[in-house]
Amino acid sequence: MYIALLGRQPAISIAELEQSYGSVSWFSDTAALVDTEQPIDVQRLGGTQKAGRVILTLPARDWRTVSMKIVQHYSKAWATYEGKITLGLSVYGLNVPPRDIQKTGLVLKSKLKETPASLRLIPNQDAALSSATSHHNKLGLSDNKIELLIVKGRSQIIVAESVGAQNITALAARDQGRPRRDAFVGMLPPKLAQIMINLAGPLEPDTEGLLPQPRILDPFCGTGVLLQEAMLMRYGAYGTDLAEKMIRFSRDNLNWLQDHAHMTGHWYLHEGDAMTTTWQQPIAAVVTEAYLGQPFSAPPSSSKLTEVRGNCNHIISQFLKNLGTQIASGTPVVVAVPAWKAVDGTFTHLPLIGNLEKLGYQQLQLKTVNADQLLYFRPDQVVAREILVLKKK
Ligand SMILES: C[S@@+](CC[C@H](N)C(=O)[O-])C[C@H]1O[C@@H](n2cnc3c(N)ncnc32)[C@H](O)[C@@H]1O
Repeated sequence: MYIALLGRQPAISIAELEQSYGSVSWFSDTAALVDTEQPIDVQRLGGTQKAGRVILTLPARDWRTVSMKIVQHYSKAWATYEGKITLGLSVYGLNVPPRDIQKTGLVLKSKLKETPASLRLIPNQDAALSSATSHHNKLGLSDNKIELLIVKGRSQIIVAESVGAQNITALAARDQGRPRRDAFVGMLPPKLAQIMINLAGPLEPDTEGLLPQPRILDPFCGTGVLLQEAMLMRYGAYGTDLAEKMIRFSRDNLNWLQDHAHMTGHWYLHEGDAMTTTWQQPIAAVVTEAYLGQPFSAPPSSSKLTEVRGNCNHIISQFLKNLGTQIASGTPVVVAVPAWKAVDGTFTHLPLIGNLEKLGYQQLQLKTVNADQLLYFRPDQVVAREILVLKKK
């Protein structure tokens, strides 16, 4: 059993986990339990900040009891360990001052004085170490670099041993280091690209074995962020876009990624209008941030909104119709479409969302969240991305 600390938008993060691992449930508003034998690879999950193997499950009590249990458990577990252990402690959902957390580490350190083990403690500025600190100290990545995740849920407290933290530095480096960026088309954050790819579920290579890896199609590929993340996740990448310039940008970015990450892999790009183009097979899944209309820094007038919404609805509906004639039944289709936030915080959605069955798609029902919770936005954004998780009927 694992515990996952969810990202800024927990509903989207837990949906990603459910599609990746199946048996997932809420542990608190910001953490999920994942029942899997498979090791969790945090670097593949855009929505999980840290994950850990569950070691102790305690009835929810005060920090002192939890602290005592930790000291008891680990002074025994490490008593015969010969060598140095680096330890970080991260507490979530319990109101504990960092110095009290540090004190637990110090008590453990002194208990281990009589044994061959020695403890190096990572200092706590806050109750929890940042993902960057955890990753930088390689916590969770080897036997003697340990981070305990202490998480309060509704009725229990879990102590877990981290299996890694998101590598924020690498995510930022590939977001900002790419040679081609285009603020106008609005670039997808790499974390969201990972989430969307995982929302398609585990993918199989095609039965005819034409390509070694399952291939993901992005028919609105823009600067290629989604294709880049697909390649890093060892999928084949296939991008098309209406604009020749975007195909050039994607090509430059994918070449850069291959040089930069010293990786090989299959990718293929060509121009095409998603409403009419014919794609090449095989297509294991379609994952795309569709046309979102123009960017807005303030909510548009209602006539402007009607115009933009109608235009996006037309392009995306025609795209879904065209795609439906070309992909096999059961093919996963994950599409980010626009939704516009008004001053009162309500959203205007695309009409096609009520018409998906007619367009030939089934919207996936998840256990942990409702479909309408998959809305990705920053508080200052007018145009949100609504993520539709579909299957071709
Ligand atoms: C929101 S952007 C996608 C951005 C991309 N995810 C990225 O990270 O750069 C939408 C893209 O759709 C393209 N586009 C607009 N209408 C299209 C159409 N009918 N067919 C194909 N591409 C289209 C635009 O050129 C633009 O690159």
